[in-house]
Amino acid sequence: MPIKYHEKSREFHLYNDEVSYIIKLLENDQLENLYYGKRVHDKESFGYLHEEADRPLTALAVEEPTSLSLLHIRHEYAAYGTGDFKSPAFTIEQANGSRLSDFRYISYEIRAGKEKLDSLPATYVESENEATSLAITLFDSVTETKLVLNYTIFESLSVICRNAYFEQTGDSTVYLERAMSACLGLPDMDYEMLHLNGTWSRERHIKTRPLETGIQAVQSMTGSSSAEYNPFIALMRPGTDENKGEALGFSFVYSGNFLAQVEVDSYDMTRVIMGINPEGFKWKLSKGNSFQTPEVVMVYSDEGLGKMSRSYHQLYRTKLVRGKWRDTPRPILLNNWEATYFDFNEEKILDIVKKAKEAGVETFVLDDGWFGNRCDDFRALGDWYVNTEKLPDGIAGLSKKVNDLGLDFGLWVELEMISKESKLYEEHPDWLLSTPGRFESPARHQHVLDFSRPEVVDAIYEMIIAVLDNGNISYIKWDMNRYLTEVYSKALPPDRQGEVMHRQVIGMYSLYARLIDRYPDILFESCASGGARFDPGMLYFAPQAWTSDDTDAVERVKIQYGTSMVYPISSMGAHVSAVPNHQTGRITSIETRSNIAYYGTFGYELDLNKLTVEEFESVKRQIKFMKKHRELIQISGDFYRIKNPFKNNDSAIMVVSKDKKEALFTYFQTLSKPNPKFTRIYLKGLDENILYTVKCEGYEIEAYGDDLMNAGLPIDLALIKKQGGDYISLMYEIIAK
Ligand code: DGJ
Repeated sequence: MPIKYHEKSREFHLYNDEVSYIIKLLENDQLENLYYGKRVHDKESFGYLHEEADRPLTALAVEEPTSLSLLHIRHEYAAYGTGDFKSPAFTIEQANGSRLSDFRYISYEIRAGKEKLDSLPATYVESENEATSLAITLFDSVTETKLVLNYTIFESLSVICRNAYFEQTGDSTVYLERAMSACLGLPDMDYEMLHLNGTWSRERHIKTRPLETGIQAVQSMTGSSSAEYNPFIALMRPGTDENKGEALGFSFVYSGNFLAQVEVDSYDMTRVIMGINPEGFKWKLSKGNSFQTPEVVMVYSDEGLGKMSRSYHQLYRTKLVRGKWRDTPRPILLNNWEATYFDFNEEKILDIVKKAKEAGVETFVLDDGWFGNRCDDFRALGDWYVNTEKLPDGIAGLSKKVNDLGLDFGLWVELEMISKESKLYEEHPDWLLSTPGRFESPARHQHVLDFSRPEVVDAIYEMIIAVLDNGNISYIKWDMNRYLTEVYSKALPPDRQGEVMHRQVIGMYSLYARLIDRYPDILFESCASGGARFDPGMLYFAPQAWTSDDTDAVERVKIQYGTSMVYPISSMGAHVSAVPNHQTGRITSIETRSNIAYYGTFGYELDLNKLTVEEFESVKRQIKFMKKHRELIQISGDFYRIKNPFKNNDSAIMVVSKDKKEALFTYFQTLSKPNPKFTRIYLKGLDENILYTVKCEGYEIEAYGDDLMNAGLPIDLALIKKQGGDYISLMYEIIAK
């Protein structure tokens, strides 16, 4: 049982082979974190890690004489207003105007397994021995509010999950104004903070900075997890790199507004808080009501960022993603968006499909433009019925024709949105999320439906199932092309407007849940103007996400590298598109485009009819290659980042099978260099004792795993010269002899 409670010392120790997390019940019945890090031996007490000092300007937590001050402890879930002067984990506004809380320990429960979270995505277990959970119950006797801090430690992964649950048991109504999912104190500030930053078309670029005294944070207030900041941070000891050093990852399983904040106080102590962004949040709790926070997943690694990422990959690939597609290699898609945009009809689509079939593509995806009078992006969102001018036989007819040609059929939707020029808006103008008397900001000429209202979600559900029930649909791309503004629901009273942002997310999750329930075999891919909602919450519903609207191979090298910090490559939608690239105007070879897109769910975003004969032959080879290797890439392999494209002109990644008998290694060089130097790449993850054959475009050597990892693999200059020019890429197959 990897969670122990030591009665005498009143300490909880959560541990497995990799990680320890120790909580102490203080003399005033509040909770302090004593340690989070590499596994230490279990023993009765770690009490010496609790420190007190008699310092000026501190308020004391118990009657004098004492030196217990909340200012100096690493509070497990810090309250506002009682002597802990850093940002709190929660605040509760009460009828008398006070925001002060004082939760004291009541009881604990340790149990095997992990409970589901009500209405929220979360990691799961399939058998009770995969994890152990601890619930610590506290109570505020003035407001009569119950607080449960939930922890789960996975048996064989360096992972601890946390969430908090509030329940109002008293007669008075209170308002939660802040309810973080996790709060963690660390004894020093000797860390760098890593986060993933971007915007449309350049999502999840890696940024790092040393911690400074004061507050540093990333957040979203967009209503989605956002392209700007991902709900993830890591704290790394100085000198930590891909292979060595301590890294503490914090990932938030949620798809709306979030805050990930690190605060360093004047004693150089660090506090991490992560949860729903308190800005604009306020949740009413009357007697019997409760509030469940989403989950934070903390990963500890003592072998650098690489191991941290692989822990996230394994957890999210196998214990967050669900359903048939979790363990099934993904179909090779062709999506018509960049091939036609809105300008298509059935004939054009079938032409594209025929050529796709010839190449070996398995699923055709019809993107935006098939419904209502959607001839451009100014109109028709919300009118989820087929445009029979473009598609005379409807989706049912088209999907049948596509099936008859030998491909599965997929469809694009954007269910949370409404265009003002739509039948839906004519009928229900009040369904639009907007604040009375205020301007309704358009974005991409569209607005957001009020998904905090169950009747709105119901109506969209009914409309879309009428289409899906009649077509033979195997895949859905669910898009979301704007952020939320003027957030206000006409269906809720003034004192509950602070709930709308979160209810919106819950409404979206509930629609996903209903559709998954009805169509368990459909493969969902989430999308938000590319990668503006690429988060663990979405992965619970959609096993893959469109990584970015930027399909340029050179940009994708960075975007996918950054995304891999947390997310498994099986979750990254990656397509070969036409050149000049529609986002950057750049021309790259079709081989380079595919070599980068292989590290994802792989597909095409172009009209194959428009390729040269040589390019089309290359596409056929690519599809064969991906079919051969996708099980390794998407399901069974471990992913390694070898060389960082954010820091170098060249970069490298690889994927290695669990038994280490098979690997793929990709080298990419951005700009060509005259008279280049030799380049040696040190591979990772191989078995030192296995003799491998390493092959790439006629180059072939034999080497043991230890050679390849320690002496390295020289990048053959002849291969570079053969491709010539900028943006060259080499795909090596590494097979045990
Ligand atoms: C944004 C997506 O990221 C694109 O791939 C495409 O589906 C368009 N929306 C369609 O409007």
